[in-house]
Amino acid sequence: MPHYPRSFSLEQALPRDILHDCGADQLHVHPVKFANWMFSYEASGIPSICRYLSYLKIMHELAYAIAEIYDWRSPPGSHGKKEHLRHTGPVEMLFLANHLYALDSFEVAGNVLECGASHGYSTCVLSHACAQLKRKLFVADSFEGLPPTRKDQGFFVQGDYAASLESVSDNLTTLGRLDAVDFIKGFYADSLKGFRHPLCLLWLDVDLYESAQDVLSNVFHCLNPAGIIATHEFTDFHNHPYSIDEKCPPSAIFKMFESSGLNYRTIHLMRYFGMIAGDNSIQPDSGAFLPFLLNKLDTMDHRSRQFQELRQSNTVRTAFRIKNLLMPRQTRPSAPEEASAVDAMSAAELEIKKNNHL
Ligand SMILES: C[S@@+](CC[C@H](N)C(=O)[O-])C[C@H]1O[C@@H](n2cnc3c(N)ncnc32)[C@H](O)[C@@H]1O
Repeated sequence: MPHYPRSFSLEQALPRDILHDCGADQLHVHPVKFANWMFSYEASGIPSICRYLSYLKIMHELAYAIAEIYDWRSPPGSHGKKEHLRHTGPVEMLFLANHLYALDSFEVAGNVLECGASHGYSTCVLSHACAQLKRKLFVADSFEGLPPTRKDQGFFVQGDYAASLESVSDNLTTLGRLDAVDFIKGFYADSLKGFRHPLCLLWLDVDLYESAQDVLSNVFHCLNPAGIIATHEFTDFHNHPYSIDEKCPPSAIFKMFESSGLNYRTIHLMRYFGMIAGDNSIQPDSGAFLPFLLNKLDTMDHRSRQFQELRQSNTVRTAFRIKNLLMPRQTRPSAPEEASAVDAMSAAELEIKKNNHL
């Protein structure tokens, strides 16, 4: 379950055009009420809301569809081991896609840099968001897995999560938007030297403190002050956020803010995932509000849709009527048989409902 801060303001969460289209009164309601209203018939007539929910819906479907395909392709026996094909999940990716939309609405300039692709699950999902919002996605990885690790990093060993550049490109060709992506191959200490592209979102999934340090020392100056940093390994295995003294990727980020004389705020969003915002970061609460929208989007997924379509569409009923009209008189079903056909349809609906726990 996503974790969200208890109190936050919708003014610091929503895209700018929605803030503009909604009155101050509307924004001072409970987030659940506001989220429900956004899906109402009344709100569907507001273009900014319609645009935002359409983007989220498309990203939601893509993030889950790509995850399903990755899980289905996992090599047999690899489940639960480090070689399996994805290390992040759809909700984490939706936090990033959602934040990118908010940045876009405020016209925050810059590209996206992903550090840590492995087989490219997160890359595929983010590439769709970037393509939709016309941003370039830089993807930096050794494409040989983790660099040599220290003894006290027992869980991680050199070469973990290795996937070749060719296999990540193949995955992107099938499941993502290769046209939105530029690869940067090599270990960060070298490969990111001289990186000069402006960034609005830096996303780290690099596992190791030293790797995060190498990234930040080379690219932190490229981050737009209105932008944000997101990272995996935000917490330990017991869901406790890491402190600045622990040698984990978030502490490298905290230290970079501190050594640059900048304030920062940590936002734990779910399990190992969180964001670090500076004083000037735009919409740092975007992730706090998203779970309320995800609750609604989840109920619109394909399983409930299958049921809704069957129930709402007249197609099936009309087909029965046409069939009855076209049948020769003598073989037309009698009233009780018609009734049983309708009963059979209801039974089919019930079966779908039951199978999908609706
Ligand atoms: C956990 S995986 C990334 C998982 C991916 N984001 C996903 O959604 O499946 C970590 C990646 O970081 C890369 N990595 C870690 N440290 C690195 C370094 N110093 N230089 C280059 N790549 C590094 C590894 O090669 C590996 O592909």
